[in-house]
Amino acid sequence: MKITVIGGTGLIGSKLVNKLRTHGHEAVPASPDSGVNTVTGQGLDEALKGASVVVDVSNSPSWEDAEVLKFFETSTRNLLKYEAAAGVGHHVALSVVGTDRLAESGYMRAKIAQEKLIQESSIPYSIVHATQFFEFLKGLADISVVDGKVHLPHVLFQPMAADDVASGVARVAVGQPVNGMVEIAGPEQFRVDDLVRRRLAALKDSRQVIADPNARYGGARISERTLLPGNNARLGETRFESWLAQSAGTSVAA
Ligand SMILES: NC(=O)c1ccc[n+]([C@@H]2O[C@H](COP(=O)([O-])OP(=O)(O)OC[C@H]3O[C@@H](n4cnc5c(N)ncnc54)[C@H](OP(=O)(O)O)[C@@H]3O)[C@@H](O)[C@H]2O)c1
Repeated sequence: MKITVIGGTGLIGSKLVNKLRTHGHEAVPASPDSGVNTVTGQGLDEALKGASVVVDVSNSPSWEDAEVLKFFETSTRNLLKYEAAAGVGHHVALSVVGTDRLAESGYMRAKIAQEKLIQESSIPYSIVHATQFFEFLKGLADISVVDGKVHLPHVLFQPMAADDVASGVARVAVGQPVNGMVEIAGPEQFRVDDLVRRRLAALKDSRQVIADPNARYGGARISERTLLPGNNARLGETRFESWLAQSAGTSVAA
């Protein structure tokens, strides 16, 4: 089966392409790197030709509120239009657990807009909601700095390894469209500030992490369970300590 992976050069995309190929699929990475741009439409025609499934694991180069909204809206509109013309039978997109509870965040508003376009389109779809990636913990610290200190709420979350995210997305991509959401998450719960503190310590990053009840998560107020998945989430296998031991400092900016 031909599966076009939009953002197939990214953190999740590159792992996903490898997993799909290992399982015998023709996985084609598509991104500006390979001449495919979902914002301008460049190269989409060719990239989608003969594809049964399109998986969108792209991300916006800018996280500024207006820019990220423009990216996900324009990109998703273009993708769905080209998919309809190419006869694609399944659109899979990666989004975030709890988007609808995080609408105070400009980034999450963009993801909500992306999801809405997919739900309203005529293409059968599956939206995968993942929790925070372990690889994103340093990026989370970076966007949570106030006067040189990292301010984060002492609330629960259930993050996961990017490798398990890619496995979860691959499983959905080769299955039937659910025309709804599938939640995936890590095997353990932590407190956000505690885990970021452990990650920074492992990176020998000396920034202090403050448990701050007024701190926001990417601009959104959150409470004890806002970031947690529901009871039916599919859980990855990788525990934080084993990821840390293997990761040798891998990180993503945000
Ligand atoms: N961070 C988290 O904790 C978290 C949690 C849940 C869900 N997610 C979601 O996971 C998804 C993937 O994140 P990631 O960290 O794997 O992203 P990433 O590593 O930043 O990769 C982004 C990808 O998007 C591609 N891209 C950028 N602009 C494009 C364009 N105009 N047309 C086509 N492709 C374009 C990039 O291509 P080039 O390499 O060619 O530039 C790259 O392949 C995002 O949608 C994010 O919302 C993230």
